[in-house]
Amino acid sequence: MRIVLVGPPGAGKGTQAAYLAKNLAIPHISTGDLFRANISQGTPLGVEAKSYMDAGNLVPDSVTIGMAEDRMEQADAAEGFLLDGFPRNLGQAEALDEYLKNNGLTLDAVLDLEVPEEEVVKRIAGRRICRNDSSHVFHAEYNKPKAEGVCDVCGGELYQRDDDREETVRKRLEVYHTETEPIIDYYKDQDLVVTIPALGKVEEVTKRAMDALQRGA
Ligand code: AP5
Ligand code: ZN
Repeated sequence: MRIVLVGPPGAGKGTQAAYLAKNLAIPHISTGDLFRANISQGTPLGVEAKSYMDAGNLVPDSVTIGMAEDRMEQADAAEGFLLDGFPRNLGQAEALDEYLKNNGLTLDAVLDLEVPEEEVVKRIAGRRICRNDSSHVFHAEYNKPKAEGVCDVCGGELYQRDDDREETVRKRLEVYHTETEPIIDYYKDQDLVVTIPALGKVEEVTKRAMDALQRGA
């Protein structure tokens, strides 16, 4: 299956993607995680991305689209993927369509996680991620690691993301409304959107998502 995951910052995309990718046996491709890995390795791409991310803005398409396509290539897009955080504006959605068309592929579904804004603010405020791998995600209250400050998956140190400060979060939400939400209508026109409420326990949301994908795709 080829799936795009959308939803506001803090909706639980990364958290759900880890379970859905495992259940569906497809790779989880997160552009946010790819940027954070480049930042921690100090690559030129990471240096460029960091200034945009810290300000809560999107990294330019000229950088992002090539990086996402390289990763899909590496994963063998024909075997399926779960895209998390890409596409994030209409230009990226059109570029993805073009990439898929050139490879004789199509999307199966766009899974839209619906969460009220006051809840995403709480989720982001308590989020802690792993120094070794930013896809290892926890919450100080809702999704506690077994030992405080330590990643359950790899034993790495947990910390708060630089762009999770309150003023940056406000900017990221604004960017989501102006730049990313329009792609939901773009995909509705292609009859691909499956919307699920993403409130409740992590495993309840995963079940809802799996049921919706099986119904909708
Ligand atoms: P990115 O890393 O993609 O961030 P985001 O979209 O803002 O999403 P988040 O990672 O904040 O949240 P999430 O939905 O994954 O939630 P999570 O599972 O962590 O992007 C960061 C930046 O990179 C962007 O601002 C941009 O600058 C750049 N970038 C990335 N992609 C780009 C692109 N395509 N183009 C241009 N720029 C790009 O969950 C949040 C918290 O809630 C966690 O603590 C979790 O434990 C908790 N939680 C999860 N589910 C539940 C639940 N059901 N109940 C209670 N708590 C829960
Ligand atoms: Zn870890």
